[in-house]
Amino acid sequence: MPLSPAIESGDRSHAVTPVESVAQISTLLEDTDPTLDPALAEVARQAAADGLVLLHNDGTLPLAGRPVAVFGRVQIDWFAVGYGSGGDVKVPYVWNLLSGLRDAGVAVDAATAELYTAWCAAHRPAFEGTWGQWPHHFPEMPLDPAVAAAAAERADTAVVVIGRAAGEARESVRAPGSFHLTGDERAMLDAVTASFPHTVVVLDAGNVMDLSWIADYGDRIGAVLYAWQGGMEGGRAVAAVLAGEVSPSGKLTDTIAWSYEDYPSAANFGDPDANEYAEDIFVGYRWFETFAPERVQYPFGHGLGYTTFDVTVAETTVDEAGLRLAVDVRNTGAAHSGREVVQVYVAAPDGRLGQPARRLAAFAKTGELAPGAAERLELAVRLDDLASYDDSGATGHRSAWVLEAGHYRFLVGTDVRSAAPAAVVTIDELRVVRQVSEAAAPSPSAPFRRMTLARDEDGRAVVAWQDAPTATVARAERITAGLPAETPMTGDRGITLDAVAAGAASLDEFVAQLSAEELALLARGDVTMHSALGAAGNAGVLGGVSPSLRAKGVAPVTTTDGPSGIRLSAYASLLPSGTALASTWDTALVRRLTALHGEEMIRKGSDVLLSPGMNIHRDPLCGRNFEYFSEDPLLTGRMAAAVVTGVQSNGVAACPKHFAANNQETNRTRNDSRVSERALREIYLRGFEICVREAEPLALMTSYNQVNGVWSHYHHDLVTTILRQEWGYAGCVITDWWMEEAVDPDFPALADNAYRVRAQVDVLMPGGVKTEAGPGDYADDTILESLARPDGLTLGELQRSARNVLRLVLALKPVIDARSLEA
Ligand code: BGC
Repeated sequence: MPLSPAIESGDRSHAVTPVESVAQISTLLEDTDPTLDPALAEVARQAAADGLVLLHNDGTLPLAGRPVAVFGRVQIDWFAVGYGSGGDVKVPYVWNLLSGLRDAGVAVDAATAELYTAWCAAHRPAFEGTWGQWPHHFPEMPLDPAVAAAAAERADTAVVVIGRAAGEARESVRAPGSFHLTGDERAMLDAVTASFPHTVVVLDAGNVMDLSWIADYGDRIGAVLYAWQGGMEGGRAVAAVLAGEVSPSGKLTDTIAWSYEDYPSAANFGDPDANEYAEDIFVGYRWFETFAPERVQYPFGHGLGYTTFDVTVAETTVDEAGLRLAVDVRNTGAAHSGREVVQVYVAAPDGRLGQPARRLAAFAKTGELAPGAAERLELAVRLDDLASYDDSGATGHRSAWVLEAGHYRFLVGTDVRSAAPAAVVTIDELRVVRQVSEAAAPSPSAPFRRMTLARDEDGRAVVAWQDAPTATVARAERITAGLPAETPMTGDRGITLDAVAAGAASLDEFVAQLSAEELALLARGDVTMHSALGAAGNAGVLGGVSPSLRAKGVAPVTTTDGPSGIRLSAYASLLPSGTALASTWDTALVRRLTALHGEEMIRKGSDVLLSPGMNIHRDPLCGRNFEYFSEDPLLTGRMAAAVVTGVQSNGVAACPKHFAANNQETNRTRNDSRVSERALREIYLRGFEICVREAEPLALMTSYNQVNGVWSHYHHDLVTTILRQEWGYAGCVITDWWMEEAVDPDFPALADNAYRVRAQVDVLMPGGVKTEAGPGDYADDTILESLARPDGLTLGELQRSARNVLRLVLALKPVIDARSLEA
């Protein structure tokens, strides 16, 4: 069993104590932590509001002053975030929906509110589970239809709130109370819709849940708002949108299908041992738009506002490099301002590889447009970015990124389904965009079939199956050929890391002084979470973990979770979670928010935020989807780059995670993600690639799972061949917390930490190894033992990882030095 990463810092009792007024917040802040930033709260609220997705509206919204009766306990017991490391922030306050509505001046039916307030007080939600045993929902108050009928005498509009939680180490399940509605929730909807002429449903859920029931109510449900989990300000954001102060402008980052079985991963998801990614590149809308458009309830990219927009492609410029579009967006409504997201999709020629019907190629969001106002958006698509990876040699160019010949049709619109043809770029001959090397391919010992595209005689897309190509590269030879030169050891020459920072000595000269013991220490964190070397409640400390390293000027570097806030013993802001942020489709806003978050890190003593979480939403049941952005890699990569750029603009570090293919929580530390090299590169690694190339994160975290038979934290192909050699990543790679023991199958003299360092997974976090007794100390000398063997880890490899770690320490030095000056 993995050790529990639970720490005491995130006392969720804070998350269920709602704030009732703005005045109360200032009292709370004075009492508890004067360093929270009201400006951050303001931007967090804007982000939460701009990520709300209005799925359906017959004009019931906005409320525009009409009184409402609010049903559902979740109006009070509001889910501001999911559970686990990604949500476990000691949040000083949370706005729930009821308080938010009152704050927004909405006339809330007092009798209904009192009824729920009293019931919730008598039925406090239980949080006393162990790590990973979080609730999926809280049991609903059984609603007497007579109560609904009486309320309908006082207000003609009802708001029904349905809430779901999800979290780390636990999937959502296909059962009432998780993916499906409970009987009590159904009964509540029945009673309310039977009495009220207008019903609004608010979904306070971090993950996508089944919504097929909406159709059962026909026009008795007037509006549906997907609120995600918007952090401490989320309740106010929802209230502002319901009231009409803010027009919703969020768009779905996932397809919502009619039933769970419709998702292409459904047949394989959740297997505890191995998970065949049989759907290959046909993830999310790539599957639905190609093969099953009729199974879509709400398409990817969909989201309504309170006004209407005219979207016109005004200019199209095509050259060798790609396509540029100028798109005019005009608010054609009369009553409301609003924002619109323009989405560009490409329909690539089938070629020999087979392509999904549509792929997101670019997107941009307008500012707030008053009625009648217009804005021109400029969107660019580089053709090279549309290349596909040939893992089979079908195009004659194995292990290359290629653009096959044919017509590339570009479609522009406001969701994947309604996007309309706007331009065509023709490529006359196949282009090899980049020749790389086979890496991380499926193991020949675990072959599987993968989905591909064929056409029937009418030209319709039909599913075909083929063997996923398996690995042919001799791993041992690749590693041996790439072993780095060692830097001759000099012993201590008195060169400090400050001298390196000042340009008075080189990093190599510094590293040459380090003993094998010191190098081995740099490759591990300070044993446990809650390290005494960092701010209380930290996730772990790396870098200057020993007196001798600190004497040489290597500072301890403090890591904290992420992504939704800084997880420490101190109070910290709770931000909208990943899906909520991505649903804004507004990278500038996310940068602005995370720049303020980076400032908070400095105030709280966090140097590395374990964020963004950026695994692909492969399946709606994955328990951590709320932390992640989308089923689409481009949106994921751009959002992750925005987070990293924002955080790092302050001199602190972000740490994208979990690299890679960590798409389910079931048996997450043992599970093997079996995925073709094409799907890996085009879907599961693509977001990381965009993030690394655009934003240069200073740190990056591997995942718990195996990828094609190798644990990510041992994966030389993933971390050295692809991440570092292909993408040029020079930062520090750390493990997810602890790791699985294993001996290198090609080099038996390397086990555990030595095996890991060979892959350039530089630091074991939090540092101690798993023992029966718990994480008491390092309890492991695999690095030094292996180093002493002629066929073991080389000094050059250990020094290479030390350099990766020290580059991170150097980058953080100004922030850490400023902190020690203050102390
Ligand atoms: C999670 C990581 C997290 C780490 C430290 C692990 O259980 O998978 O996302 O950063 O714990 O809390």
